[in-house]
Amino acid sequence: MPALGLGTWRADKGEVAKAVTEALNIGYRHVDCAHVYGNEVEVGEALKASSVPRQELWVTSKLWNNAQRPENVRPALENSLRDLGLDYLDLYLIHWPVQLSHNVMYPQSGKDLLPWTEAHALETWNALEACVQAGLVRHIGTSNFSTKKIQPLLDNGSIQPAVSQVEMHPYLQQNGMRNYCRAKGIAVTGFAPLGSKHRPSHQHKEGEPSLLDHPEILAMAERLGTTPAAVLLGWAVTRGTSVIPKSTNPDRLRQNLAAADLELSEADLTIVEGLDMRYRFLDGCHWVMEGSPYTMKNLWDGE
Ligand code: A2P
Repeated sequence: MPALGLGTWRADKGEVAKAVTEALNIGYRHVDCAHVYGNEVEVGEALKASSVPRQELWVTSKLWNNAQRPENVRPALENSLRDLGLDYLDLYLIHWPVQLSHNVMYPQSGKDLLPWTEAHALETWNALEACVQAGLVRHIGTSNFSTKKIQPLLDNGSIQPAVSQVEMHPYLQQNGMRNYCRAKGIAVTGFAPLGSKHRPSHQHKEGEPSLLDHPEILAMAERLGTTPAAVLLGWAVTRGTSVIPKSTNPDRLRQNLAAADLELSEADLTIVEGLDMRYRFLDGCHWVMEGSPYTMKNLWDGE
């Protein structure tokens, strides 16, 4: 999996095809998608129009929370393949450890949310394994899972998760997840590496910290003759994780890709280490409402 990928969440329908085309032209080979982003058709148009051979591309998509029942897994994957115009995915992730009723895209009330159980998760996992066997996807993994929720898949599955995708940046360094995955041979991809400023306004908290404006990051960027975004992405890649910044801006696409070659020194890694505050920009609070079986505690298992 190429270390520097292109994120497509909230890349507008009118812009995303152009951004993917530009990204592929300048050398991106990893595109991170999801059914729920609502733009896989446009991403697919850009993939189809590109002359990059399919085997050089890494395309990820994600199973939405309303399709986790085993009978819904393969149809959901086939739907993403159709939208993206592909015969197979490189990676398919369970998007959240959160289950929604099949006819619900986003919960309106707690009744739309069904409890998460280990047995249910294993059924979803087994259905994903069948998709690997059918040649529809090369690798399967998880997104937003704690290590506690990954472990039963390792214990009981016949295919182990290839990737754990989680929010990861200097304010949320996820050392527990990183060490766990390293020990188990699972790759880690970090989302929201720049602090996800483009997420919906209701998900912004008053007084939240800004990664791109942090004085230590600004000073490091100046000292290294680069940008704050490049420092954040270089930090992720130097730590051995892959990273999927979203941009639809040609200059920033270029800047972000170049950051894959920026190796932070031990001294700079130590400075960034001191910024961890276990802060989630995307804390999943939209799954927690009256009547919902989800709490912040059982969603993240305290990790
Ligand atoms: P844009 O698409 O206009 O470039 P994240 O990847 O953490 O979710 O953050 C994505 C947000 O960061 C988007 O708003 C994106 O805007 C912006 N962004 C992407 N690359 C850069 C960059 N190099 N410098 C500053 N902001 C960036």
